[in-house]
Amino acid sequence: KMNAFVKNLMAKMTIDEKIGQLNLPSVGFDVTGPILSQGVDQKIEKGLVGGVFNTYTPAAVRKLQDLAVQKSRLKIPLLFGYDVIHGHKTIFPIPLGLSATWDMSLIEKSARVAAREASADGLNWTFSPMVDIARDPRWGRISEGAGEDPYLGSLVAKAMVMGYQTNSLGNKDAILACIKHFALYGAAEAGRDYNSTDMSLIKMYNDYLAPYKAAVDAGAQSAMASFNDINGTPATANKWLLTDLLRKQWGFKGFVVSDYTGINEMVSHGFGNLQTVSARALDAGTDMDMVGEGFLGTLKSSLKEKKISQSTIDLACRRILEVKYKMGLFADPYKYISEERAAKEILSPNNRLDAKVVAQSSLVLLKNDNQVLPLKRNAKIALIGPLADNKKEMIGTWSAAGDGKDAVTVYEGLRRIAPQMDITYTKGANLIDDPALLKLIIGYGATIETDAKSPQKLIDDAVAAAKKADVAVVVLGESAFMGGEATSRTNLDLLPNQKTLLKALTATGKPVVLVLMNSRPLTLEWENDNVTGILETWFAGTEAGNAIAEVLVGNYNPAGKLTTTFPRNVGQIPIYYNHKSTGRPYEGNIADRYKSRYIDSPNDPLYPFGFGLSYTSFQFTPVTLSTKSINPNGKLQATVTVTNTGQYDGEEVVQLYIQDIYGSITRPVKELKGFKKIFLKKGETKTVTFNIGVNDLKFYNAALQFVAEPGDFNVYVGSNSRDVSTAKFTLTK
Ligand code: IFM
Repeated sequence: KMNAFVKNLMAKMTIDEKIGQLNLPSVGFDVTGPILSQGVDQKIEKGLVGGVFNTYTPAAVRKLQDLAVQKSRLKIPLLFGYDVIHGHKTIFPIPLGLSATWDMSLIEKSARVAAREASADGLNWTFSPMVDIARDPRWGRISEGAGEDPYLGSLVAKAMVMGYQTNSLGNKDAILACIKHFALYGAAEAGRDYNSTDMSLIKMYNDYLAPYKAAVDAGAQSAMASFNDINGTPATANKWLLTDLLRKQWGFKGFVVSDYTGINEMVSHGFGNLQTVSARALDAGTDMDMVGEGFLGTLKSSLKEKKISQSTIDLACRRILEVKYKMGLFADPYKYISEERAAKEILSPNNRLDAKVVAQSSLVLLKNDNQVLPLKRNAKIALIGPLADNKKEMIGTWSAAGDGKDAVTVYEGLRRIAPQMDITYTKGANLIDDPALLKLIIGYGATIETDAKSPQKLIDDAVAAAKKADVAVVVLGESAFMGGEATSRTNLDLLPNQKTLLKALTATGKPVVLVLMNSRPLTLEWENDNVTGILETWFAGTEAGNAIAEVLVGNYNPAGKLTTTFPRNVGQIPIYYNHKSTGRPYEGNIADRYKSRYIDSPNDPLYPFGFGLSYTSFQFTPVTLSTKSINPNGKLQATVTVTNTGQYDGEEVVQLYIQDIYGSITRPVKELKGFKKIFLKKGETKTVTFNIGVNDLKFYNAALQFVAEPGDFNVYVGSNSRDVSTAKFTLTK
């Protein structure tokens, strides 16, 4: 039916109308790139637009859809895309925080809520999920992905796609997902955004590609080409990537959109003039041109000059029309536009409740000496810091339609959840004092207030409050504008003025709890050595303050686990748990000279992948295996028993890692292959069993065959990638 419909429609289309379907201008509320689209209304009427992005609300979308389906010759409905990244109006934690829940049903739920709100607000397409593996916290966009692990990243990718698209794109509250940024955007050299990527195929296949493929397998119907070049060819014009790998190997059936002006940017990449790069992009498999209008302006000439073929244009046009058909847009172009549904759905109490539950689960307890947390209900608290009562920062980066005014701060959350608690709030420091950074961030569109009080007076007041209190709770970190696109950093310390405040507070001798808000791992060696407790809260969204307060007072026992390694210092980057062993592994003996090590820093990170504490304690028995050897059709079970030995009920993420000890190529020291999040009442014991089959042992060999090689394997089970017990088995021929 779809084929006949699209064929029939395309038979009526002029070449201009076909090229028009490949055009995606931006019009409306946001600017997410360097140039703006012009004359969009007239272009829609002429059939020169396939979709619009950055327009939402029923009224604004209806106006443009009216132009398409009432004024254009063929009445082809428009797509309406937007960066619905971690919620639409009800904002969930930034994606890096979402992944720290290690809970796929919560992650799917967050995408579902986002889709319900967005679809009621006129949108039918989100530029999410971002599934780029990132091992470099200098890169600001590490905040938008699920961290460094391809196994976990794949599960998250699937959950997000299911949450957005549901089991049928035709459903009224389903929106089209977009796999981005294809590919390897997270591996930009030196962590500098948009920078080149040069990577072996073996590394791509084993460490980076799995989450994109998982999103394809989950049925995502659009993908976004990344800005970077890969081994010399920009992704946007990379035929191997967009056609051979994505479509032929993986069977992707949707369409590919460029990133913002990604086609035009290939001129700066040095890949040709606009006409050449537009033709190369189309020929490679990019179907839709975001904002740049390279397609609109040059494809017809390229066709006349026989630089591209009619069938290539037809193919791209057909792919876009097919997705519109699958979405049910031809049957009802207005299906996503509903004032009633928007009023009912957006920021509903249920959505806020979901956001709070997810936010709670995303928080990671990094340190808790002397059980400083949870706070005692009768303790006197000095709540300090520029992020303790700062609404607009709570929703974090890429919270496009979100409004900080709807968000709850930590101060508000504590007041609401523990009204009887004795809490004094002082700011302590400006969020940013450094004039150069301030100028840059304000230039990015942020409003960052500088307090009327001098920096010293701010500190003095905070120190005085801390001295009068039993505990100082200090909320510090980055501005939300310091994360996301174009926010690479070379220094990951707390900003100097905030650190000065923290030092002054620790000097009082009072217990200090550091509550962190940041888009990326920071370097926290000093903090880890000097404060009593550390709670990583990312940017937790609209309900941030309520969620953090629930954790601070102990109504919810934190269970989040890091999905990205926290380095000790920037010099260790890139640092990730699934690294190779090298021929001279350093085992910690300080006298070992000719080893793979630093002379001025340990090799190991400050907080490893998978790490996160709880208010209670969990004791693991050593892992046992059901057998010492399996054949290629066999299976074995790895079992541990976990006991909650502490004073609180709580959740633990039991993690399974495997190491292929000898391989035909060098293999990582360990790789995540499974995990289970369990809830244990105080004193309770549970047995956790993982099934291990031959598929869990496979990797891409030098010929890029996905194989399991006979030999010995180590199994590691524990509460994070470092603290594990070990057992060994053999895969026989
Ligand atoms: O979706 C984004 C992408 O992640 C970065 N460039 C702009 C796009 C649209 O806003």
